[in-house]
Order: sequence, then C-alpha cells, then structure tokens
Amino acid sequence: MRPKVCIVSGVTLDGKISIGPDVSSKETMPLPLKVRAYLHRLRSLFDAISVGCNTVKVDNPYLTVEYVKGKSPIRIVPCSKADVSPYSHVFREPEKAILVTSRNAPEERVKTFQERGVRVIFAGEKRVEVEKMLTSLADMGIKSLMVEGGAKLNGELISKGFLDEMVLIHHPMVVGLKDAPFFAEGEMGTPQRFNLRDVKFLEGFLITRWTPVSSPSFSNSGTSQASCIA
Ligand SMILES: NC(=O)c1ccc[n+]([C@@H]2O[C@H](COP(=O)([O-])OP(=O)(O)OC[C@H]3O[C@@H](n4cnc5c(N)ncnc54)[C@H](OP(=O)(O)O)[C@@H]3O)[C@@H](O)[C@H]2O)c1
Repeated sequence: MRPKVCIVSGVTLDGKISIGPDVSSKETMPLPLKVRAYLHRLRSLFDAISVGCNTVKVDNPYLTVEYVKGKSPIRIVPCSKADVSPYSHVFREPEKAILVTSRNAPEERVKTFQERGVRVIFAGEKRVEVEKMLTSLADMGIKSLMVEGGAKLNGELISKGFLDEMVLIHHPMVVGLKDAPFFAEGEMGTPQRFNLRDVKFLEGFLITRWTPVSSPSFSNSGTSQASCIA
C-alpha cells in the first residue's frame, strides 16, 4: 500500500522549474496572489506534502497553508544523508514534520532532528528509496501525498510509476538556459504519457491537471485513477 501521490509544480513554457541550477524558484518565479491561494487550497486537501532536500536547501519553503482557510499537511523531507538544517522553515513545527533518511546518514545529524522533535524514518540503506518511503507513510496512516518538487524527486516518482496525478502551473515565460532544472530529471527509460483531465485559467496563468496513461510499463501500484484532488 502507498498513499495517492500528486505532483504539483510551477513550470515554464520550456519545461523548467527554475531559472538556473540551485536558484530559488520561490524568489525568481513568483506566483500572483490568486494562484498562490489556489496552490495553498490544494495543499489543504492532502494529508502530507513533500519536497526533495535540495529544494529545502535552495528555497527554504514552509509548505504550510497560509492564503486560504485549511489544515497544513504534514511536511515530509527525503534526505539520504540528513544533511539539511533541522532549523529550515519546513521543520518549524517539528511535530508536523518527518525527515526520511537512510541508514547511511551520520548518527549525530539524525540525533539533531530527533532532539528537535522531528520524527525520523529510515527508508533505505545507502539512499532513500521512494517505494520504502511511501510504504512507511501509508503505515503511518498517510493516504494522500502532494509533492512540490524539485526536479529529481519528481523524476524519481514518475520513472518508478508512483504517480497518480499531476497539476502543472504554467508560468508564461521561457528560461532558455540548458542548466536550469527541468520539471522531471532522472532515468526515465521509456517516455511516460499522460491524459489531460482539466484546464483552468487564473490571473494569466494556465493550470493543467494530468493523470498517467496506464500501460504495462507504467504501473499505478493498484491504486485507482480517481482524482487525488477531487
Ligand atoms: N517551480 C516549482 O514548482 C519548484 C518546486 C520545487 C523546487 N523547485 C526548484 O527545483 C530546484 C531543486 O530541484 P532538485 O532536483 O535540485 O532537488 P530536489 O528534487 O528538491 O531534491 C533532490 C534531492 O533529494 C534527495 N532525495 C532523497 N531521496 C530521493 C529520491 N528517492 N529521489 C530523488 N531525490 C531524493 C537527494 O539528495 P540525497 O541524495 O542527499 O538524499 C536529491 O539530491 C530548485 O532550483 C528549486 O527552486 C521548483
């Protein structure tokens, strides 16, 4: 068993999620207020929310619900070596945050999170394995997970077939830099195809919702095609 997984990402017209490597998209690709409120409404619909640890280092996001009424999801950070600050914004409410790490992470670093009150789960020997991470989250009662990037975490979830839905917020801009991260990076093997489910316009932004096309090479791990955000 695993939670339903929905990637929600801001993406430029040329498929980038930031204007350069290790450049914060939060600062360089701001969203208008109504679109931010839409993003926060989506967050409020999920049990948990996750970003890869490089996004924590570069963007330092809160991942909470601020612009609409609603409950903030539990914040999940996969980080194999636990080499991220336990004082990052995402761990601000430690009882509502989980660090997912590997047995390879130095004990001292793991301890700093535990002492701060952040729950730590181990999901892999050398590296966080997403399948183990998702199984552990399901065991904890987490039924739905929103993923807000970055490129590597998105890529891993898509290539392994652990994605039920994605919502893309299309920034009306072209970056044109080859080093800027793409929406999904990693070893995709075969191209993954998607069905368009919904289209929305908000303050000059196009927002699209997609579900993966089921195929023998793209397993949905037994979950249905029902919307994560319906
Ligand atoms: N436009 C948007 O909506 C948006 C949203 C978020 C981020 N961003 C941008 O994306 C960029 C960061 O993206 P990124 O690709 O460098 O980083 P990322 O995906 O946020 O984090 C990648 C790191 O997460 C860790 N990780 C742990 N387990 C993993 C797994 N199973 N699969 C993949 N990663 C795993 C890895 O570090 P370890 O090997 O140490 O574990 C990996 O290097 C920034 O520029 C940020 O501004 C944009």
